[in-house]
Amino acid sequence: MIGSPHVHHRLTDSTNERAKQLAAAGAPHGTLVTAGEQTAGRGRQGRSWLAPPGRALLMSVVLHVDERTPLAPLVAAVAVCHAFPVADAIKWPNDVWAGGRKVAGILIEGRPQDGWAVLGIGLNVATERDEFPDELRDTATSLWAAGADVATPRQALDVLVPVLDPWLEAPAETVLNEWRERDALHGRPVRWTDGEGVASGVDDEGSLLVETATGVQALRSGEVHLTRAG
Ligand code: BTN
Repeated sequence: MIGSPHVHHRLTDSTNERAKQLAAAGAPHGTLVTAGEQTAGRGRQGRSWLAPPGRALLMSVVLHVDERTPLAPLVAAVAVCHAFPVADAIKWPNDVWAGGRKVAGILIEGRPQDGWAVLGIGLNVATERDEFPDELRDTATSLWAAGADVATPRQALDVLVPVLDPWLEAPAETVLNEWRERDALHGRPVRWTDGEGVASGVDDEGSLLVETATGVQALRSGEVHLTRAG
């Protein structure tokens, strides 16, 4: 279902932006947009997503919204872990880690009121350590650098799509269980803009639960940081 149709751009601004345009024009569920290079790749929290040309899988999938859509970013993270076993942990909400470094990021955007969303996945496939920007060099990795037997974004796409497809149909409970098995923050001290505590898993909506001095808080979105390394 994912990948029909499939539009590939050698160079574009952002696959999420292209997919949003197609979705707004009525593109079917599963429409896939990929690119070899993005000039304005977007990350979460208003950040940019940078990847050297031809080194990362840059993809966006049009989803027609249903009751499963809110969990789609968690589904994508679980699917990346299943597709590439070197990807062994997920930092809430959906950063995929390989050996303690970020290998993939996921950004969902859309217009639920119009019945569609776009699920964007940026997966570092063959990026070498010195190709990451200075500020990411110690915290990012690629599948190849982490030891996976995949060398090109096209190979990664061919592995990921058949795995992601059924996961998007999986029951929420199964997705959440798989996500919880890979929870990189569980039991670890975290802080965010308004507080700090110890991460204690996710609830059934995918909110992060944190035990604080005043009780358990559920964080719906945003950014949390580990309070100490390791
Ligand atoms: C994050 O970790 O901040 C999310 C990064 C998501 C990046 C991907 S790359 C393909 C798609 N197009 C975009 O502009 N962003 C997503």
